[in-house]
Amino acid sequence: TSISCSLHRQRRRPEYVPSHIADPNYVRIFDTTLRDGEQSPGATLTSKEKLDIARQLVKLGVDIIEAGFPAASKDDFEAVKTIAKEVGNSIDEDGYVPVICGLSRCNERDIKTAWEAVKYAKRPRVHTFIATSGIHMEYKLRKTKQEVIEIARSMVKFARSLGCQDVEFSPEDAGRSDREFLYEILGEVIKAGATTLNIPDTVGITVPSEFGQLIADIKANTPGIENVIISTHCQNDLGLSTANTIAGAVAGARQMEVTINGIGERAGNASLEEVVMAFKCRGEHVLGGLYTGINTRHIVMASKMVEEYTGLHVQPHKAIVGANAFAHESGIHQDGMLKHKGTYEIISPDDIGLERSNEAGIVLGKLSLCSIEMGVLKYSGRHALKDQLKELGYEVDDEQLGNIFWRFKAVAETKKISVELSFEASNKVMPDKFCLRVTDADLIALVSDEVFQP
Ligand code: KIV
Repeated sequence: TSISCSLHRQRRRPEYVPSHIADPNYVRIFDTTLRDGEQSPGATLTSKEKLDIARQLVKLGVDIIEAGFPAASKDDFEAVKTIAKEVGNSIDEDGYVPVICGLSRCNERDIKTAWEAVKYAKRPRVHTFIATSGIHMEYKLRKTKQEVIEIARSMVKFARSLGCQDVEFSPEDAGRSDREFLYEILGEVIKAGATTLNIPDTVGITVPSEFGQLIADIKANTPGIENVIISTHCQNDLGLSTANTIAGAVAGARQMEVTINGIGERAGNASLEEVVMAFKCRGEHVLGGLYTGINTRHIVMASKMVEEYTGLHVQPHKAIVGANAFAHESGIHQDGMLKHKGTYEIISPDDIGLERSNEAGIVLGKLSLCSIEMGVLKYSGRHALKDQLKELGYEVDDEQLGNIFWRFKAVAETKKISVELSFEASNKVMPDKFCLRVTDADLIALVSDEVFQP
């Protein structure tokens, strides 16, 4: 059980009949790791890897899987089709089946190809988009507002005419689009049969109050909006994608587009794990009772799988899934953790499926030493060391602990020097996680010297 987050009860997802008429507090998770995530430079996935990730997304309980951009290549088409057939038909004991979605530009060829790939799923969706900002319409599309409206309207209609009953529409670069124009084009695509309206902050330029207001304004001013789901899609160029996504949901969006580890174009997307844990920890009390249906215990496995398959490493201090997210190095924090885990952890590692080697997440290194040397918390540094030794199976008395402690300090100092030397010699930046750590093997060597001295 979590410490602060345990207050929030994980509720069952509502039945997906048409998606938009379920529990008003339920916020759908639309995962686009396999589409926008794969657009990260260097992150190409094989079809088999995509299938594995899609299966992991099902374990997480993701509502909608954007499996790819079928018109982009034959491989992408085949991968989406396979996911539609294999993952889009797997019904679990709760009757849950994910929606399988394919992206398409607003043209007949793309839409037809997307439909041909996703139609094998029990719940297929075509997601079509066209840019609506002044800069995109003038320089990229070279089209007028009226031309863009006409294309969007007719292409949503075309998708529906193929038999696709679930059509998502995105006005690309909505964050920089004229509001009145947005209300108009969104109203037209609703009339043409769109079921979800996704509002992308394509260049990640908005700040949370602004993005929240954009969603609130669309909700208040778009004709027919009450019959569809509003969605967010926030890029991370200013590092605000998670905050913007949450602001969008609080303002009325009921679908959030995210990726595992926050991968995606340029600086990436809102990360699934951050958004989901924010709702799990704070949804009931400060986010208006909003909740998602994600089984958070599968988060760590999903993160590791995506990291390994894409080769995009997760930074050590990344929220929720970073190597240091549940590690405590300073003496003050270690002391608190040993007394009560709630002092410095708002999420229990179990809640995200993390097994850590030492219960209190204690890392022995430079900071614990500093606090000891400064004469502060002398006890806590020793306490942490004693605890770690106990986990390794060594019970030591106070005298032994004192001796081991000073040897431990010498090892930590040596490690610091050797890290710096190797940094200079190789001219490479050492990843944070390798810096200033004393490993269990070091400790065993130390304690053995002390305990088994003749
Ligand atoms: O960032 C973006 O605008 C997109 C859309 C296609 C949703 O990825």
